Amino acid sequence: MGEQSLVGRKALVTGGARGIGAAIAKALAQAGAAVMIGDILDEAGQATAAGLSANGASAGFVHLDVADDAQWQHAVNTTVQALGGFDLLVNNAGIEVTSLVADIDADGLRRMCEVNIVGTALGMKHAFRAMRPQGVAGQGGSVVNIASVAATIAFPAIAGYSGTKSAVDRMTRVAATEAGKLGYGVRVNCIYPGLIPTEMGLQLANDIVGNGLAADVPAAVGAVIEQTPLGRLAEVGDVAEAVVFLSSPQARFITGIGLPVDGGMGM
Ligand SMILES: NC(=O)c1ccc[n+]([C@@H]2O[C@H](COP(=O)([O-])OP(=O)(O)OC[C@H]3O[C@@H](n4cnc5c(N)ncnc54)[C@H](O)[C@@H]3O)[C@@H](O)[C@H]2O)c1
Repeated sequence: MGEQSLVGRKALVTGGARGIGAAIAKALAQAGAAVMIGDILDEAGQATAAGLSANGASAGFVHLDVADDAQWQHAVNTTVQALGGFDLLVNNAGIEVTSLVADIDADGLRRMCEVNIVGTALGMKHAFRAMRPQGVAGQGGSVVNIASVAATIAFPAIAGYSGTKSAVDRMTRVAATEAGKLGYGVRVNCIYPGLIPTEMGLQLANDIVGNGLAADVPAAVGAVIEQTPLGRLAEVGDVAEAVVFLSSPQARFITGIGLPVDGGMGM
C-alpha cells in the first residue's frame, strides 16, 4: 500500500485524544488525510491535534460526546467547514466497565451502551447523511468501527462490554448493507483489536486481578499472550495501519467485514 494512500481525504476520528484513536489519527495523517479529532477530553484532544499540525498535517479538534445526537451534527459541520469535506469516519470512542455477570451494575452497563452502541450508531447516521449524494459532503466514503476481540471470544468479566462490541459488529453489517443498496457510496467495516496496554487495556488487566481471575497484572497479561498465537499483546500501530487500509482505495471492494487485528487470539 502506498504511504500516501489517503491524500485529499477528510477524516473524523472519535476518541482521538489518546490511545488507539490518537494512533489512528496519526496514521491517517501520515497517509495524507486531513484529520479532525472528536473527543470529550478537550485539552488532550487539542494537544494531539496540535502534534499532528506540527508535523505538517491539516488537523483540528472538535468537542464531541458521541452519545449526543446534536453534538454529532455540530462535529460533522465543523469537520466539513474546517477540512473542506468529510469522507472518512473512524468510530473509535469507547469505554469498558469490567464486571463479573453476578456483579453487573445497571448504570455501568447503560453507560457502555450509550457510548459504545448509541455513539457508534449516531456516528454512522451522521456520516451517511453527510457523505451520501446530496449530503453536505456528498462524495461517499468509508466508515471504520472499532469493535473488539471481545466480540469474537468469551473472556470472563467483560460480558457487558462484549455485548456492546457484538452490537457494533452486527450494526456494521446492517449499515454496510443499507449503504450499498441505497447507493450512498459509503463502505462500512469494523476491526476487532486484541488487548492493547492503553489506559483502558491496563485498567482491564487490573480489574481482572481485582475480580480474582489472575494473581497479578503480569499473570493477567501473560494469560492473554498465552491465548495469542503471535505471542504478544497488540499495539496501537497494528490497529491504526488496519484502519488506513480499510479507509483506502485498496479496500474499495471490501464492505461489511470484521477484521481481527489480534495476533490470532480470536481464531
Ligand atoms: N485497549 C484495548 O485493549 C482495546 C481492545 C479492543 C478494542 N478497544 C477499543 O478501542 C477503542 C479505543 O480504546 P483505547 O484503548 O484507546 O481507550 P482509551 O480509554 O485509552 O481512549 C478512549 C478515548 O475515547 C474517548 N471517549 C470516551 N468516551 C467518549 C465519548 N462519550 N465521546 C467521545 N469520546 C469519548 C476518551 O476520552 C479517550 O480519548 C475503544 O472503542 C475500545 O473499546 C480497545
